[in-house]
Amino acid sequence: MENPFVPTAGSTPPELIGRKGVLDEFSYGMRIGSGAPGLLTIFTGARGIGKTVMLSEAEDLAREAGWAVVSETATPGFMGRMGESMRRLGNELGNTTPGRKITSLSAAGFSITTALPPEEQVGWRETGKQLLQLLAEQGTGLIITVDEIHATDRTEISQLAASVQHFIREGLPIGLVFAGLPSAVSDLLNEGVATFLRRADRIDLHAAAVRDVEKSYAKLFAEGGFDLDPRIVRMAAQATGGYPFLIQLVGYFLWREAELDPEITEEAASAAIAHAQKRNTRVVVQAALSNASGRDMDFLKAMAQDEASSKTLDLASRMEATSSTVGNQRARLIDAGIIESAGHGVVRFAIPGLREYLLSLPE
Ligand SMILES: Nc1ncnc2c1ncn2[C@@H]1O[C@H](COP(=O)(O)OP(=O)(O)O)[C@@H](O)[C@H]1O
Ligand SMILES: [Mg+2]
Repeated sequence: MENPFVPTAGSTPPELIGRKGVLDEFSYGMRIGSGAPGLLTIFTGARGIGKTVMLSEAEDLAREAGWAVVSETATPGFMGRMGESMRRLGNELGNTTPGRKITSLSAAGFSITTALPPEEQVGWRETGKQLLQLLAEQGTGLIITVDEIHATDRTEISQLAASVQHFIREGLPIGLVFAGLPSAVSDLLNEGVATFLRRADRIDLHAAAVRDVEKSYAKLFAEGGFDLDPRIVRMAAQATGGYPFLIQLVGYFLWREAELDPEITEEAASAAIAHAQKRNTRVVVQAALSNASGRDMDFLKAMAQDEASSKTLDLASRMEATSSTVGNQRARLIDAGIIESAGHGVVRFAIPGLREYLLSLPE
């Protein structure tokens, strides 16, 4: 058996740990159809927590239920790309549905580099409506997923929200599943443009229980024919903190050690864990910090001096900055998904390994 772990963004893991029941409401929504609460779902959470994987799960469930799927990432022009996908689906369907013969659904093209100009929005809606009517005739519908909604300006998201709201009002079978960093999503929901989205089921994804990681490791390694010492399994599971990307990384490097020598020693396990942490730092921590300014870094380094969470008042005095300066920076870093609020006036790191990384930097 080859190494089953997939330490790659968006890859479906060998076992989806700690997500039982998360999509029940969504599945139920597809049974009820148009307007069901579960058909409007937003996943939020830090980088590497498993948002993209949950979108893929939702897409799989939709396809199993016979629904059509349009899947996009919120980079500029996604509305246009979505329009093209809907048109293609509509044409395929129109040519296979008995009694329906559609040769060309809404002929005009969509701009695919920017938000849609008003006249194209009309065409987009018409295309969507025709597709949804075809699907409704078959007793199914359309699920739209949009990943990384923090990465776009709000214009296209609000265009999408307005159109989906419109379809729901007409009783058409549509579902919308979003994923993005927590604070960007909060901002979006608080903005007037997409108030309709406040009705969405917001699911905050968190780390899994370490105990469940342990069970999963024990099972997967046993399936691979490796008989690991339970102490090693526990040690590896604990090192992940239940954080999905680390679960895959630690599992992956531990498996490689096991391939070299199935009798994994504590030393070999430590080496695997160190490898995993290093990779996590490079992929997640450094990516998260890539746009951080010098002042941001000072703020984060001031935070790293605390054990678990930090009081913003303490940070202000440590940095010799005014509370309003510190407040602004706090907001910026929360937006970026680097830190998160841990109660009133308290913040903590949102990414595992960030503190260790900051402490390892030269002064
Ligand atoms: N529930 C889970 N259990 C185990 N591994 C997971 C789980 N969810 C995600 N992963 C793994 O974590 C990594 C990051 O997942 P991804 O969906 O790309 O995160 P995000 O989109 O939040 O940044 C991937 O390697 C994926 O296989
Ligand atoms: Mg993702």
